[in-house]
Amino acid sequence: MLIALTGTPGTGKSSVAELLRRRGYRVASVVELAKKYDCVIDEENGELVIDVEKLADRIDFDGIVEGHLSHLLKPDLAIVLRCNPAALKERLMERKWSEEKLMENVEAELLDVILVEALEHAGEVYEIDTTEMSVDEVADVVDGIIKGDEEVRKRYKPGRIDWLSELEDRLDEFVRKV
Ligand SMILES: Nc1ncnc2c1ncn2[C@@H]1O[C@H](COP(=O)(O)OP(=O)(O)OP(=O)(O)O)[C@@H](O)[C@H]1O
Ligand SMILES: [Mg+2]
Repeated sequence: MLIALTGTPGTGKSSVAELLRRRGYRVASVVELAKKYDCVIDEENGELVIDVEKLADRIDFDGIVEGHLSHLLKPDLAIVLRCNPAALKERLMERKWSEEKLMENVEAELLDVILVEALEHAGEVYEIDTTEMSVDEVADVVDGIIKGDEEVRKRYKPGRIDWLSELEDRLDEFVRKV
């Protein structure tokens, strides 16, 4: 079974994947697999450009694939890590990113971009709000979803997370300023 661990940059995919690897799961990153299957097209500003469609066709992997493109590999199961955009902004500010790149990613999280893509490309989708969770707790939930724990699956069905409503007060304030 191909399992995608996906989410906006900074939501904790690599941290959670590392824990799951230590717990015995077979884990690879999209970048590792793109290299293995010869699906790297180019390199732009230190980031590899990956031919995701080609990789989706070629990939033969049983385990967890982590990365913000993993849900595009037609996985059987996609688990989307989410983080409150205000908290995500704080996390991403630690990276030396341009303001433009930072806001692009915060907005993508706000607008459920990866969740919507995952719903289009994956067999089954779950989403986890990691904002108040430790990496260990997130790994426990991912483990429960993969093992088919019905209670956990029910709790993390997509559609419950609504950042726009949660940030309503801040948005009101923002609109008034404009
Ligand atoms: N549940 C969490 N609570 C608090 N901080 C976290 C949590 N998960 C990850 N972090 C921190 O957030 C930062 C980003 O985590 P990580 O690199 O795992 O994200 P990522 O989703 O793999 O990002 P990218 O897509 O850029 O690879 C790290 O500094 C990490 O320590
Ligand atoms: Mg990562």
